[in-house]
Amino acid sequence: MQIIRRVDRLRSAVSLLRRQGGEVALVPTMGALHAGHMQLMREAKQRADHVVASIFVNPMQFGANEDLDAYPRQEEADAAMLSEAGVAILWAPDVDQVYPAGFATNVSVAGVSDGLCGAARPGHFDGVATIVAKLFNQVQPDMALFGEKDYQQLAVIRTMARDLNFGLDIIGVPTVRDADGLALSSRNAYLTSEQRAAAAMLPRAMQAGIAVIEAGGPVGEATRGIEQALLAAGFASVDYVTLADAATLQPMEIADRPARLLVAARIGSTRLIDNMPVNAR
Ligand code: PAF
Repeated sequence: MQIIRRVDRLRSAVSLLRRQGGEVALVPTMGALHAGHMQLMREAKQRADHVVASIFVNPMQFGANEDLDAYPRQEEADAAMLSEAGVAILWAPDVDQVYPAGFATNVSVAGVSDGLCGAARPGHFDGVATIVAKLFNQVQPDMALFGEKDYQQLAVIRTMARDLNFGLDIIGVPTVRDADGLALSSRNAYLTSEQRAAAAMLPRAMQAGIAVIEAGGPVGEATRGIEQALLAAGFASVDYVTLADAATLQPMEIADRPARLLVAARIGSTRLIDNMPVNAR
C-alpha cells in the first residue's frame, strides 16, 4: 500500500491504477479505525478493483467547543490495518494540500444539514460537505462508501453529489453492531462498563418504537416511549428522537413512505447516535 501526502503524487498513483483497468472506490475516514471502518473497506474491495482510503482529521467540521486536538490519531496502526485489508492507496494529505493559504470556499447543503445533529453542531455539515467535495475532486473515484451509522452525513453527501453532478455512486453501508445491538462507534470507548451496559437500551428501545410505528401506532407515542426508556435506563438526556423521510430527513408524523428513525442521546457526557429503517405501511 502506498501512503501519499501530496495531490500531484495522488493523481499519478490513481492514473496508474486506472491504466491497470477497473473501478476505483474511495473510503473517506478521519482515522482511529475500528471494525465499522473495516467493514467499509471490505465492501469497497468487493465492489471495486482498487480501493483508496483517506485519513484526514478535518478541522472544518469541528465546532469551537469540540476538541479537535483530543481527536484520536494513530496513523501507523491504521495504515497496518488498511494494508492488511488490501487497500491500494492511503491518502493522508498534509493540511496545506486540503486547505492552502487563502482557502475561502464553503460547500453548504441547505435543508438536510439543518435539523437533528446539524441543529446541535452549527457548521458541522458544511465542514463535512466541503472536505468530501475536495476528496472527490482529488481522488476522482467511481464510487465512495460511507457508513449508515452517520445517516445525516450520508444524506448530506448524497444530496451534494447529486446537486453538483459529481457523477459517482454514493454507497451507504449498514451499521455494524455489537452482539447486544449497540452500533460500533469510537465514542463507545468513552463509556464506563456500567454506561456501556445501559447503552444497549438505545437499539432495544428503537426496535420497540419501530414495532409500534410499523403496527400503525401513533408516531408521537412511539418516540415518547423511546425517550422514557432511555431516561429510565440511565441516559442523562435525549437530544432528539425523530421519524424522518429517508432521503430529505424532513420530520414525519405518519410512516407513509420510506422513513428512518433517528436518535441522539447522552449517557454521562458521551453523546451516542443511532438510526434504523422504518417500513412504510
Ligand atoms: O465520517 C467521517 O469520518 C468524516 O465525517 C468524513 C466523512 C471522513 C469527512 O471528514
